[in-house]
Amino acid sequence: MSTTRGLRDRDEPITMLTAYDALTAGIVEDCGIDIILVGDSMGTTVLGYDNTLPVTLEEAKSRTAAVARGTDEVLVVADMPFLSVGVDEAQTVRNAGEMLKDAGADAVKLESGPHTVETTKRLTQLGIPVMAHLGLTPQHVNQLGGYTRQGTTTEAAEEILSLAVDHEAAGAFALVLEHVPANVASLVTDRLEIPTIGIGAGSDCDGQVLVGTDVMGLSEQIPPFAEPFGDLKREMTEAIEAYREAVESGAFPAAEHSHIQEDLDLEETQ
Ligand code: KIV
Repeated sequence: MSTTRGLRDRDEPITMLTAYDALTAGIVEDCGIDIILVGDSMGTTVLGYDNTLPVTLEEAKSRTAAVARGTDEVLVVADMPFLSVGVDEAQTVRNAGEMLKDAGADAVKLESGPHTVETTKRLTQLGIPVMAHLGLTPQHVNQLGGYTRQGTTTEAAEEILSLAVDHEAAGAFALVLEHVPANVASLVTDRLEIPTIGIGAGSDCDGQVLVGTDVMGLSEQIPPFAEPFGDLKREMTEAIEAYREAVESGAFPAAEHSHIQEDLDLEETQ
């Protein structure tokens, strides 16, 4: 049984990675990653949208359910898509609840702000663990004018700190800090009891998260704070091209890929 408790009581930094399907999630779990985030980054990474805003609750639930089916013990956190939270309180609770009840997630993540403090409290009271997310919140891209650094003025940094404290008090079990100065993330991490998980937030956070396709070298473009740790795109391209060439040249399928049924009397059936 995966649990959101005790995440901070470990010697090594927490590792979190996104995955959106059962196959990848199983590999991620086998690699010893602590938390799988079924991020709404699925919108741009695997669903072909321009940003995360079009991702629907049904898409997020379906992907979360696939990840839950493909894993055993790892903590699965479902990202709540744009407008699935905050429009109406009862619907917010139902939407988040379905991520646990129907899709098999262990917790939900909310892109957070002043508007999510009460929601975090309510969901936590009802038994839905909440991971908060401050700093760059990509669902606000239309107001931010891009995926820009956050917390870069004293006022903005103080607001992040204050919201972090409020979300901890509301019951959040962890906090993602995205694209904020390392010294701001460090200060927030010092002030909180719950673990911080950084993405573009320096090395003082209690853990790190990246988008899986960036890590594996599958993305066309990656943010400045990410790092490809492999070149899966090259390996996939080589494998697919080799297959195409083998079919076109007649090298595939070979005799060992085919079988002959000796006892057929095909002439009679003509
Ligand atoms: O959707 C996502 O993948 C995220 C992470 C980048 C934190 O929110």
